[in-house]
Amino acid sequence: MKKILVTGACGYIGSHTLVDLLGKGYEVLAVDNLANASEAILEGVERITGKKIQNHNINLSDKAATRALFVEHPDIVGVIHFAALKFVGESVEQPLRYFRNNLDSLLCVLECMQEFGVPNLIFSSSCSVYGNASDLPVTEKTPWAEAESPYARTKQMGEQILQDVCKGDANLKVVLLRYFNPAGAHESNEIGESPLNASNLVPVITETAIGKRASMSIFGDDYATRDGSCVRDYIHVMDLADAHTKALEYLLAGKNANQCEVFNLGIGEGVSVLEAIHAFEKVSGQSLNYTIGPRRAGDVIAIYANRQLAEAQLGWIPQRNIEDIMRTAWAWELKRSGKG
Ligand code: WQD
Repeated sequence: MKKILVTGACGYIGSHTLVDLLGKGYEVLAVDNLANASEAILEGVERITGKKIQNHNINLSDKAATRALFVEHPDIVGVIHFAALKFVGESVEQPLRYFRNNLDSLLCVLECMQEFGVPNLIFSSSCSVYGNASDLPVTEKTPWAEAESPYARTKQMGEQILQDVCKGDANLKVVLLRYFNPAGAHESNEIGESPLNASNLVPVITETAIGKRASMSIFGDDYATRDGSCVRDYIHVMDLADAHTKALEYLLAGKNANQCEVFNLGIGEGVSVLEAIHAFEKVSGQSLNYTIGPRRAGDVIAIYANRQLAEAQLGWIPQRNIEDIMRTAWAWELKRSGKG
């Protein structure tokens, strides 16, 4: 079996990608420093896949510890690098922590890959690199606007580092995956998004519906959109997981046209905040207690993907929509609240 190092493996997208990789016959090496995650999610992965996965609790900014992992596992053929701090608001308050963590960990992993001759890297990037794009849907060639947060800046810098390192290392092959808005949970309801302090829309909706929050606020309904609320491209986390395995297979098979390629991972449709709430109410049968509040600093007005390149090159076609997201997210919330 091909061994894949998965950093940030206990995270939301990382754990769901473990399920997809294991289901497709890969061996996984899980690394997570548990800054924003719990190893308990690996028990859910085991219940789904029948495979017991051990987490290696390593700080990837610690070069010696990261290198020791590559010494212990000389048969790593690829790396999927999820590990990063990811909260937009927190990054505004703690920019240095975000630059130090997100860039140091990437550089340590890259140095080890070069030293040990590991050629294939999938990098977790983000649609936030586009900033407030003027033309929609965005393609991979849409010029970047100003990063709206230090988090987004670390993703822009990460992509630029990888483009430059590839120019100097003919052995390295990289795919940059720009996620839009990941949400939802695995159909089995054994794993899902378990934020410690939810700030993203979908977990805030389910926490409000279950009663963990008395109400929620819609951050502005006076934008120049069809209903005044912001528009995003919500992508089910299992469609995102499938894209990672397809990108890995693309590199392992040597199908990449260039050393460093980038793909948008969105479903190609914009959904407004109000439409997302209505989709939740429809699939859950629950009416949601929300108010219209002030705009949130750093929000882009609207963004959604042109996903044609990922379909043409990776053969990736998302299978789920906003109602599948809300149905699985709600089932997961009911279960983790002991009401499932
Ligand atoms: C979505 C919309 C809010 C909460 C996220 C990640 C970022 C990146 C892109 C991967 C916005 C509105 C939210 C609430 C609301 N992902 N909202 N009330 O900001 O698009 O960014 O996806 O890299 O890391 O943070 O996602 O879910 O926070 O917001 O009205 O209580 O929902 O204003 O319009 P965002 P989000």
